[in-house]
Amino acid sequence: MSNPSSFPDPVQTPAIRIQNLTVSYGPKPALLDINLTIDPGLLVGVIGPNGSGKSTFVKSILGFVKRDIGDVYIQGIPTEKAKGLVAYVPQRGAVDWDFPITVREVALMGRYGDLPWYRQPSGKDHAIVDDALEMVRMQEFSDRQIGQLSGGQQQRVFMARALAQGADILLLDEPFAGVDAATERAILDVLDRAKEAGKTLVVVHHDLATAAEYFDRLVLIKQRLYAYGTPAEVLHEDLLSEVYEGRLRVFADLVGNRGDK
Ligand SMILES: Nc1ncnc2c1ncn2[C@@H]1O[C@H](COP(=O)(O)OP(=O)(O)O)[C@@H](O)[C@H]1O
Ligand SMILES: [Mg+2]
Repeated sequence: MSNPSSFPDPVQTPAIRIQNLTVSYGPKPALLDINLTIDPGLLVGVIGPNGSGKSTFVKSILGFVKRDIGDVYIQGIPTEKAKGLVAYVPQRGAVDWDFPITVREVALMGRYGDLPWYRQPSGKDHAIVDDALEMVRMQEFSDRQIGQLSGGQQQRVFMARALAQGADILLLDEPFAGVDAATERAILDVLDRAKEAGKTLVVVHHDLATAAEYFDRLVLIKQRLYAYGTPAEVLHEDLLSEVYEGRLRVFADLVGNRGDK
């Protein structure tokens, strides 16, 4: 079938482009000379041992940490000018769960960036929040206090807040940490649904055994970028033993589980 409005394929703008990025908190860089381009629409896992710079990597994409050198672009725009284009779901430990606030109010916080201080949320804001809560399957809990929810439900509410921001790119820091297996499936389902809706997702993940199953691409990081590619390309015994040193005992199992997406 001919398409009268067809154009030559536009050059695809990368969702995220990182050039020559070095970040230091002290004398030793946490990230050293990272170069990476992530295409839109992918579900990307970030793996590496504790303290390898995964959270710093995510914060650098957001422009939350000061760079020694290097550039980060979100959809072609320098990250410091790209605030509305990327949304962040922090690690659960970073949130005060006793704060008296409902599920709907947390999700509405995703809209506050767009609201002038004198205006109440509009019908459109509420509709966007309804969609976001539906996406994470938490709509029936709208009026529940956030402190009364399970860890996985809380995680999904914070995913709804990020979705309500309307950003095309979502960054999540260890969303699966400390949740049970059923909750892990529920969170993975939200990631898949967000991807189906066209989002690019970058997810810090601690479990190598499930990395191949969950993600389209993997970033393997330990101060430097050791690899970026499909799970089959990244989960190689020699690379993993170099990055994890003595801390990984189950190479054979992991390589056996390797996906070939
Ligand atoms: N705010 C900070 N101040 C000083 N050092 C930090 C800070 N945040 C992280 N680091 C250090 O930077 C390195 C990378 O940390 P991080 O990005 O949190 O790693 P990961 O998320 O992979 O565990 C670690 O050595 C950590 O101790
Ligand atoms: Mg971390």
